[in-house]
Amino acid sequence: MSRWCDFEGRPVQAPEPPEQGSFYGPIGDWQGEEYERNAFTAGTAQEAAFLREELSLDNGALVVDVGCGTGRHVRALAGDGVRVVGVDLSGGLLRAAAQRRPGDWVQADARHLPLRAGCADIVWSLCQGGFGITAGGDVRVLREMVRVLRPGGRLALTAFSLVFAARWLVTGDAIDVERELLHSAADVRGRDGQQRRFDLWTQCYSAGHLRLLAEQMGLAVDALHGVEPGAYRRTAPALNHPELLLLATKLA
Ligand SMILES: C[S@@+](CC[C@H](N)C(=O)[O-])C[C@H]1O[C@@H](n2cnc3c(N)ncnc32)[C@H](O)[C@@H]1O
Repeated sequence: MSRWCDFEGRPVQAPEPPEQGSFYGPIGDWQGEEYERNAFTAGTAQEAAFLREELSLDNGALVVDVGCGTGRHVRALAGDGVRVVGVDLSGGLLRAAAQRRPGDWVQADARHLPLRAGCADIVWSLCQGGFGITAGGDVRVLREMVRVLRPGGRLALTAFSLVFAARWLVTGDAIDVERELLHSAADVRGRDGQQRRFDLWTQCYSAGHLRLLAEQMGLAVDALHGVEPGAYRRTAPALNHPELLLLATKLA
């Protein structure tokens, strides 16, 4: 049974995520190229530069970007000699990605990556790209990410912080503490400039939960940072960090 509550812990009604777990496809299709008008995309270059450094990204490495959206991180790496496969549910976002840069854009669900086991040097899911917004499906998403990674390969993912979500819950948002699930409704501007309201369900994590999950998947956790969009840094997670950034290595 769900136990949604508001910012004061009072029981409230909130819709349940769809049975199939994934819900972002229609939102992405609605936004298309407008997605990059979201303020949180402004820090893409900083995020890509930080990851390039921390993951020791080499020329020729194959990077799989899970939930790549419009491919903003892929484009930021252009010119670095890396090869990238971008996977996303949303045809609308992938079309926007392809318009900006030709590449390997694959429409698929992150729970079933259509990629060979061990093919990738680096796999990441950024800004809740599949991991964190596939209600009830994160274990399958992470298992797939680990499967396509070669032994010794590096993984990066961001996840929304449970302590931040609980601390800054606003009117209209609801949280289910047992499932660590946040519900919010967002007005999203589409390609025609019109706004439409969508339900969002974000799986939140404590640092300890995320670490445990990664270790159970055969990953060695290299670092767990507290970050915010456009400000990826080597900082211990704190109450004011909206996101956790996990960096890990696949054990042989
Ligand atoms: C908040 S956006 C982040 C996009 C991109 N990583 C970025 O940093 O801008 C979430 C992305 O994940 C994709 N997504 C959500 N659930 C997914 C799933 N189950 N499989 C594949 N992609 C998914 C959405 O279509 C969307 O592009």
